[in-house]
Amino acid sequence: MNFQTYLDAKRTVDDRALNRRILHQFSAELPESARILEIGAGIGTMVERLHSWERLPRRTRYTALDIDPENIAAARKRLLANGFESHGDGLRIDDGERRLTVSFEVADAIGFAARTDERWDALVGHAVLDLFDLESALPSLLSALEPGGICYFPITFDGGTTFDPPHPLDSRVERLYHEHMGDSHGSSDAGRRLLAALRARETDVRDRGESGTTTRVLAAGGSDWVVFPQNGSYPGNEARFLRYILETIGSVLDECDPDRGAFAEWRRTRRRQIERGDLVYVAHQLDVLGKRE
Ligand SMILES: C[S@@+](CC[C@H](N)C(=O)[O-])C[C@H]1O[C@@H](n2cnc3c(N)ncnc32)[C@H](O)[C@@H]1O
Repeated sequence: MNFQTYLDAKRTVDDRALNRRILHQFSAELPESARILEIGAGIGTMVERLHSWERLPRRTRYTALDIDPENIAAARKRLLANGFESHGDGLRIDDGERRLTVSFEVADAIGFAARTDERWDALVGHAVLDLFDLESALPSLLSALEPGGICYFPITFDGGTTFDPPHPLDSRVERLYHEHMGDSHGSSDAGRRLLAALRARETDVRDRGESGTTTRVLAAGGSDWVVFPQNGSYPGNEARFLRYILETIGSVLDECDPDRGAFAEWRRTRRRQIERGDLVYVAHQLDVLGKRE
């Protein structure tokens, strides 16, 4: 399964998980005419959702950025299939009431934010902050915000991977999977770290009496993925979503287990449970909303 198919299957899982209180607060904080930068935008599901859920103001200029050109190509195609029209290099949708213009960037988010002279009213990072070293990434990312601009980081992984029915190897699998997330720049408790890092930017900068990217946390709350079968099958493409998650965990286990045997039975069992519509999967995540002062 390719990554774009996974992101498409993930859409309904995210739809359920997003913390509505924080989403509504994000929306209420946006100015009447907003410039929004989304980093790690994938195949464009967030901008599509914000538009169809009427969470954007009357005039929005939205920049969807991703490091992977295949994601950006898929985002363009997806939005064109969903009522958007070509507009210069980007896309536009205008229903008379609201006008949304989308432009695309293929770039590394941190490099882009550090280089750009543009400033945005909102920065969105959906299911992506757990990939970054927050300490080095946040200063650049937040510097792309206008003073008073908001940052919205929903679906930030926060260290819980649970399957049901239980299996004796679950806790070992979870530990190896989470440890692996910390091997590169990311971390398995990114939600908590993000909240702490934003809070530290509030007090640290204030204590030093400096101006700059001081950030105040406006809201934080849970946004767990909860995937469960109903009458023996999963809604939408969520069986596909589960298979991808299992493949991802499986490749980590392969790396950790040189004889590739110890976890084979765990994987076969989980795979069968997906096919039978028996498996429940829960991932713990946080949504965090902040404001640059
Ligand atoms: C888990 S996916 C989430 C995609 C999308 N936000 C969603 O939830 O459907 C993470 C995305 O971040 C992108 N990404 C990873 N590292 C990046 C970086 N340094 N700069 C920009 N995008 C990045 C990946 O290509 C991928 O599309």
